[in-house]
Amino acid sequence: MNPALHRIAWTVVAARLAAPAAADEPVDRDAWQTIGRAWFRAGDGPLRGAEPPAEYADCGRCHARIAAEWRGSLHGNAWSDPLFQVSYRREPEPFCRSCHAPLSPEREPSGAAARDGISCAVCHVRGGEIYGSRARARDPAGHAVQASKDLANPGFCGGCHQFGFFVLPERRGVARFEGPYVQQATFAEWADSRQAKLGLRCHDCHMPPQRADGGEPWRSHAFPGADSDLLLQAVQVQAQAHATAEGTQVEFTVTNRAGHAYPTGDLFRRALLEVRPTGTPNGDAELRQYLFTRVFIRATGASPTHGPWTSNRIADDTRLQAGETRRLTWLLPRTERIQWVLWDDKMPTPDPRQTAPSSPTRRRALARGEIAVQ
Ligand code: HEC
Ligand code: HEC
Ligand code: HEC
Ligand code: HEC
Ligand code: HEC
Repeated sequence: MNPALHRIAWTVVAARLAAPAAADEPVDRDAWQTIGRAWFRAGDGPLRGAEPPAEYADCGRCHARIAAEWRGSLHGNAWSDPLFQVSYRREPEPFCRSCHAPLSPEREPSGAAARDGISCAVCHVRGGEIYGSRARARDPAGHAVQASKDLANPGFCGGCHQFGFFVLPERRGVARFEGPYVQQATFAEWADSRQAKLGLRCHDCHMPPQRADGGEPWRSHAFPGADSDLLLQAVQVQAQAHATAEGTQVEFTVTNRAGHAYPTGDLFRRALLEVRPTGTPNGDAELRQYLFTRVFIRATGASPTHGPWTSNRIADDTRLQAGETRRLTWLLPRTERIQWVLWDDKMPTPDPRQTAPSSPTRRRALARGEIAVQ
């Protein structure tokens, strides 16, 4: 993904967010179920009807740029992704493939279905037809395209980016089904946001328009996420420190301009703000930390068909919701300078409360700074 193009995309998004009069676009809060679940499924079994027409099966032969973007994306690596593999080996459930390798006919994906993860056909082919978001005249160099507005709807993404914990029935210990407690809620977070009311869709931020050689524009299939500079532009930190009679009063404001909570998505993610006085002998002892995360606890329930079951539910959520600005204050000992850093972390287990600095499997400093005490 070209970072320069990406900055242009965020400039467009920021201009829409800054619009003084909030537009009030209707938001379909059930679209993840009506559209998303019509295209995709969460459960044990392959996605059916997505076999591409044989003569067009190698999409990348003609759509080379899109194919190269997708190959490097987490969609193109949804099964081979090392972080996924670690967690799958710990919890090797057949239902994992319904989102991470949807075309696998085997319970244990292998070959092309594993290599390609969420392949072109998963999103574009049903009943032997190739679907796009708009109608266009048939191009003699290509194939017929069925137009469906579903592809341009956030509910389409919600087919996988919104789901509940799968539950473990106490009787028949292997049969699992999606329970009532939400695990990932990126679609619902979006549907509740001002960004959604302004008409900013998932696609506007995650599939920014690309153009090359003055040709037809296309939408990026690199699906930039938290590892790209999209995140750097969306989350903003401001810091101030004042000397008072009691010590040093520090104040932070952290703003999330993404179209959903930050962090969103899977349960292995958290953000950690660390603040400490600079140059005092026991600066580290004065370290202050704030976690933006969800905390999950065990939950139980019962179903008429499966009997009692166990699952997880959210007990606490300190993440920044879409558009939220959080003010955080601390009183530190007297000092002249304050150092701070905001970490974006992926944790090895779904308990994001672990605070040892060495424990994340992947860590990136989103923003850091040093300020003089006023
Ligand atoms: C033989 C070459 C060829 C192959 C193979 C091929 N396509 Fe196409 N496709 C084209 C051409 C040419 C067009 C029309 C011009 C364009 O938009 O690139 C097109 C158009 C499309 C469109 C509509 C584009 C728009 O602007 O609305 C979609 C979606 C699409 N293809 C998806 C696929 C998928 C998915 C595959 C693999 C299953 C595939 N294509 C395989 C040549 C091909
Ligand atoms: C995760 C779902 C997903 C995957 C995987 C995916 N696409 Fe798309 N693609 C979309 C969506 C959604 C759109 C329409 C965006 C819009 O119009 O708002 C699109 C648009 C297109 C278009 C129309 C031109 C454009 O970019 O607007 C083509 C051509 C295309 N995709 C080809 C491919 C090919 C080839 C692959 C595999 C290399 C692929 N897509 C993989 C979701 C996907
Ligand atoms: C078939 C299920 C499926 C659909 C449909 C789908 N996604 Fe995803 N998406 C995933 C999975 C699974 C991952 C994570 C893969 C991994 O890390 O193992 C992912 C990852 C992502 C990421 C993170 C990419 C990164 O590199 O950090 C973004 C952003 C994203 N999806 C956006 C979208 C958008 C926007 C749409 C709709 C146009 C969409 N997805 C449709 C399943 C899906
Ligand atoms: C206004 C822009 C915007 C909109 C709209 C938006 N996102 Fe995002 N998204 C971001 C930003 C910025 C990030 C990075 C912050 C974060 O990781 O939470 C992000 C992160 C993500 C991630 C985490 C990626 C990772 O690497 O783990 C996923 C998944 C995702 N978005 C999916 C979606 C889906 C699905 C929708 C629509 C329902 C959507 N987004 C709507 C801006 C947006
Ligand atoms: C209903 C769809 C769905 C199912 C079922 C599902 N996932 Fe995911 N998974 C996703 C989506 C969407 C993301 C991307 C969220 C993000 O990037 O924050 C994801 C991301 C992940 C990640 C983070 C990858 C990374 O690089 O950060 C791991 C690990 C993971 N899933 C493991 C699993 C395992 C193990 C299973 C089965 C026990 C499973 N998932 C079942 C949709 C699903």
